Amino acid sequence: MTEVVHTPRVFSGIQPTGNLHLGNYLGALKRFADSQEEGIESIFCMVDLHAVTVWQEPDDLRHATRELAAGFIASGIDPTKSILFNQSQVAEHTQMAWVFNCVARMGWMKRMTQFKDKAGKNAENASLGLFGYPALMAADILVYHATHVPVGEDQKQHLELTQEIARKFNHDFEVDFFPETQPVIEGAATRVMSLRDGSKKMSKSDPSDMSRINLTDDADTIARKIRKAKTDPEPLPSEKGPLDDRPEARNLVNIYAALADLSVDQVLAEHGGKPFSEFKPALADLAVDRLAPISTEMSRLMEDVAEIDRILAAGADRARAIAAPILKKTYQIMGMVGA
Ligand code: AMP
Ligand code: TRP
Repeated sequence: MTEVVHTPRVFSGIQPTGNLHLGNYLGALKRFADSQEEGIESIFCMVDLHAVTVWQEPDDLRHATRELAAGFIASGIDPTKSILFNQSQVAEHTQMAWVFNCVARMGWMKRMTQFKDKAGKNAENASLGLFGYPALMAADILVYHATHVPVGEDQKQHLELTQEIARKFNHDFEVDFFPETQPVIEGAATRVMSLRDGSKKMSKSDPSDMSRINLTDDADTIARKIRKAKTDPEPLPSEKGPLDDRPEARNLVNIYAALADLSVDQVLAEHGGKPFSEFKPALADLAVDRLAPISTEMSRLMEDVAEIDRILAAGADRARAIAAPILKKTYQIMGMVGA
């Protein structure tokens, strides 16, 4: 067996299911832009085939995919530097997913907490696609031999499964073909919580719009949501420890740190001792300063959806050029005639 050294390559995906929010920005988009700036080859995907594991109105899916593309670009992803595309345009993802459906074991999939959460009480009525979701996700990553995957905390288990699939394939076929992909879960905001309840993560599907800051919110709305965010009556502490028992306070401090590119310690050194009546306006100013230009740029980009569609088609061509030979080699390893 020869040791293969894989060159660094970043891959990540976001579902085009609308309501792109501050958690997606800090946990994902902002960090994607950072990895692009570090000069690592980066591939970013709007995972529309993952989105349809639960029902999507076709018009809504179309709109959300283009809006997400606008969100990527407005957050600093340059489609000439990085590869930006939607998953369904590159058939190699689903082809590789079938291979991984045959590698992954039922028992592994049954352990996935996201499936249990999304399927809810009536798991018998969930789509087969929702159950197989993590195998498609492993395919997204491994069909590019990606080495690093920046994501929020909630995706950790899926990335462990991706490693398990790669390991089993390599082991079964006695090859060193798929890399051991590393999750990159870093920074103060890998788990941004709801503004209404510090024990729930900020989510696209929360029925309360006040629970999240959407990337499409205007400056007034952003400021109002921060002013109304749930907190406790104590002033901010000067060090991290006491925040452990104050989830809402900790969340606002984490958001401040991530938006300002500071550590939590630095934020507390500056704001420790202040009441929320002072800290919230400072946070609101910072959030408006960082987020309002993104929302303005998204609306501008959405005025020309034909241009967005061209960008995604060109990105898909570049993605396919990397994925096709890796899929072909996978088929050869497995003994598929004609590959
Ligand atoms: P999704 O919207 O579920 O497709 O998630 C897209 C990306 O955003 C993934 O990398 C998630 O881990 C990340 N993400 C989603 N919600 C949050 C959150 N509340 N805090 C931090 N990251 C998040
Ligand atoms: N499952 C991810 C989420 O819900 C989205 C996703 C799909 C993804 N494929 C991926 C993330 C590949 C990283 C890499 O957020």
